[in-house]
Amino acid sequence: MAQKLMIAGNRALRGTITISGAKNSAVALIPAALLAETPVVLDNLPDISDVKIYTELLEELGVGVQNVDGAMTIDPSRPVWTPLPNGNVKKLRASYYLMGALLGRFGKAVIGLPGGCNFEPRPIDQHVKGFEALGARVTNEHGALHIFAKELVGAKIYLDVASVGATINIMLAASRAKGTTMIENAAKEPEIIDVATILNNMGARIKGAGTDTIRIEGVDSMKGCRHSIIPDRIQAGTYMIAAAATAGDVLVDNVIPKHMEALSAKLQEMGAHIYEMDESIRVVGQQEYSNIDVKALVYPGFATDLQSPMTSLLTKARGLSILSDYVYNNRFKHVPELQRMGAKIRVEGRSAIIEGSTLNGAKVKATDLRAGAALFIAGLMVPTGEVTEIAGYEYVQRGYDNLVENLTALGAEVWTEPE
Ligand code: EPU
Repeated sequence: MAQKLMIAGNRALRGTITISGAKNSAVALIPAALLAETPVVLDNLPDISDVKIYTELLEELGVGVQNVDGAMTIDPSRPVWTPLPNGNVKKLRASYYLMGALLGRFGKAVIGLPGGCNFEPRPIDQHVKGFEALGARVTNEHGALHIFAKELVGAKIYLDVASVGATINIMLAASRAKGTTMIENAAKEPEIIDVATILNNMGARIKGAGTDTIRIEGVDSMKGCRHSIIPDRIQAGTYMIAAAATAGDVLVDNVIPKHMEALSAKLQEMGAHIYEMDESIRVVGQQEYSNIDVKALVYPGFATDLQSPMTSLLTKARGLSILSDYVYNNRFKHVPELQRMGAKIRVEGRSAIIEGSTLNGAKVKATDLRAGAALFIAGLMVPTGEVTEIAGYEYVQRGYDNLVENLTALGAEVWTEPE
């Protein structure tokens, strides 16, 4: 049954939060396992709904999956090629990684066009361009991509946009192609390095992940390995923002501080105190903040996935702040909901112009994962202690594991109720 998230405001978050593995790595590493012929073990797996759906997808492909205490064992030794035009593939965006993984393993894939967080049209033309360059024929039949290759042959592929998904999808397929593939204008996000690391440990030959030119020499066969997923930089960033937004004091543990640099710099610029340690960051929030401008860009710029949570925090800054998103054209579905809570924000083109204001409790709706994050942070910020009701909690559960438990442990008053 659908649930809504209830949050009473005016509680400063205090304590320690341990961050789990990255959602956007996990949803690529799970299908990557399909390329191996022996079992793969993934450690530090987040307990989120996208991972559960991916487990079911692998089972539909005849792959054994066991998930015990955050360690997932995937046995891809006898997968059964299966067309997946509908069903679970429509429930999450990252199901598109099955295209590259099945193409690499079987030379063919039938996958329904992905669902997931559709805050704006999100084309996958660069993925298709990559598959075609590797020698596949791609057709769209009734909303499913049919991808067939007699033989995958390495190629030089220039991405028109530095797409995370296209970069990973091409790496997956090219790992099993004949010869060398070069991806130019590749995305540089940490999740790409994580995927290249597991693929190399499985026997692939990938160089340059994390730079804009990735070179992949195809191999004939790949084997299983054990891999620990990198910490979720977006979850970590969300808790850092929540700590700052509630004038709290939170130690965010199990993070790679380098991944958080753009956010840490912006929080410091506003006036929050940030202390970086080897694997943790402490955020000490303040009652008042200076206004700042933020530009969401590809990595290592400020992450677009933290743009929505940051919008909520900026309502606490004096004067006008401008938050622009250069990754997506129109990722502002959280704005009308924040307006219901008293926020003074107007959207102009790809920017939100945010005026310092005091928030009130209200009934609001999360329409995608990060819009949901913006709303639970706003709920925590309401100074009167009024309750905020957030419908659409299922979106939030896609990317934040144990949210209610985690926020409660940090001192928040938060619970769920049937919708
Ligand atoms: N784009 C194209 N054509 C393509 C692919 C992308 O025009 O073929 C455009 C998109 O429309 C967008 C931009 O390029 O404007 C970047 O898209 P990208 O492909 O990099 O995004 P993605 O791979 O679909 C991943 C994350 C997103 C995150 C983006 C950007 C996963 C499963 N998702 O999406 O995460 O916002 O990279 O960093 O890795 C989230 O976690 O809430 C989330 C949406």
